[in-house]
Amino acid sequence: MPHYIVKADLLGKTFPGAKRNEPNVVFENVNFRLEKGEFVTCIGHSGCGKSTILNILAGLDTPTSGCVFTDGKLIDGPGLDRAVVFQNHSLLPWLSALRNVSLAVKAKWPEWSDAEVHEHALKYLEMASLTQALDLKPHALSGGMRQRVGIARAFALETDVLLMDEPFGALDALTRGAIQDELIKIWTETRKTVFMITHDVDEAILLSDRIFLMTNGPQARIAEAVVIDIPRPRDRGEIIHQPGYYDIRNHIIDFLVKRSKELSGSVRAVPLSEVQTENEELVYPPDVNPIADARKSRRRTLQSA
Ligand SMILES: Nc1ncnc2c1ncn2[C@@H]1O[C@H](COP(=O)(O)OP(=O)(O)OP(=O)(O)O)[C@@H](O)[C@H]1O
Ligand SMILES: [Mg+2]
Repeated sequence: MPHYIVKADLLGKTFPGAKRNEPNVVFENVNFRLEKGEFVTCIGHSGCGKSTILNILAGLDTPTSGCVFTDGKLIDGPGLDRAVVFQNHSLLPWLSALRNVSLAVKAKWPEWSDAEVHEHALKYLEMASLTQALDLKPHALSGGMRQRVGIARAFALETDVLLMDEPFGALDALTRGAIQDELIKIWTETRKTVFMITHDVDEAILLSDRIFLMTNGPQARIAEAVVIDIPRPRDRGEIIHQPGYYDIRNHIIDFLVKRSKELSGSVRAVPLSEVQTENEELVYPPDVNPIADARKSRRRTLQSA
């Protein structure tokens, strides 16, 4: 039986709308599970709520309905079991690349000696091919190098789950390619669970075990999880020659161009089987009952149909 490290049940987020009495229901009924060691990317049009979902997983935002768990524990804030990489690096400008990583390492393992911290930080900076840049401060690093420091720092924390919000969004295509290779290298060595948002279909196919396709907002939802069964190791130059590559690519493009809009806002009843927990370890707190919520939501849908 697969071990789900992340589980999202009936997640919904509503923000107050621009007009009174017209709340912005960004997404509803978002259910997914991430298996341990899985690399999952999420694609959808701007505004469908991808960053909001990632922020909820990071514990930086709270859902309006539903709940998320890591390793069976309800997420109710940031935690040392999750690390985040954002589109724009969040390095401390006055510290070198090495110090940026070692500071985070020291915060996670305060009992470690300076030598242990140094060695650990170095290991991950080396994995990200940054040995030449250890003493440089962020302003002296290229955009791609800064993102690599951010990735090295996130992986150095050895969290169960890594959350990345368009980590290469601000980079040019060549730099992006090189840094994708670094990410594949680090992920292959560590096999951590990654949830990453991207707008780049080729990047998603290259990196992912599964790709979540989101419908357009408002009332967005994950319409499909596309399994990428192209064998690993994958190579950026070679992958396009793999049988099925263009079928997958065309399917995703077709979704983004046509179906993400056609399916948007279409409310459907959530079958209880989809939200029933298969993982016996999960314990819901008393005020959260996704099964009852599903029933309520189903009743609402049936009434409005
Ligand atoms: N703090 C906030 N207050 C009000 N509305 C918000 C807030 N944060 C996000 N939203 C709204 O929620 C919706 C989803 O935003 P989100 O940033 O999650 O989208 P996204 O899918 O990540 O888009 P992009 O691809 O452009 O990054 C948008 O309509 C946005 O206006
Ligand atoms: Mg976003």
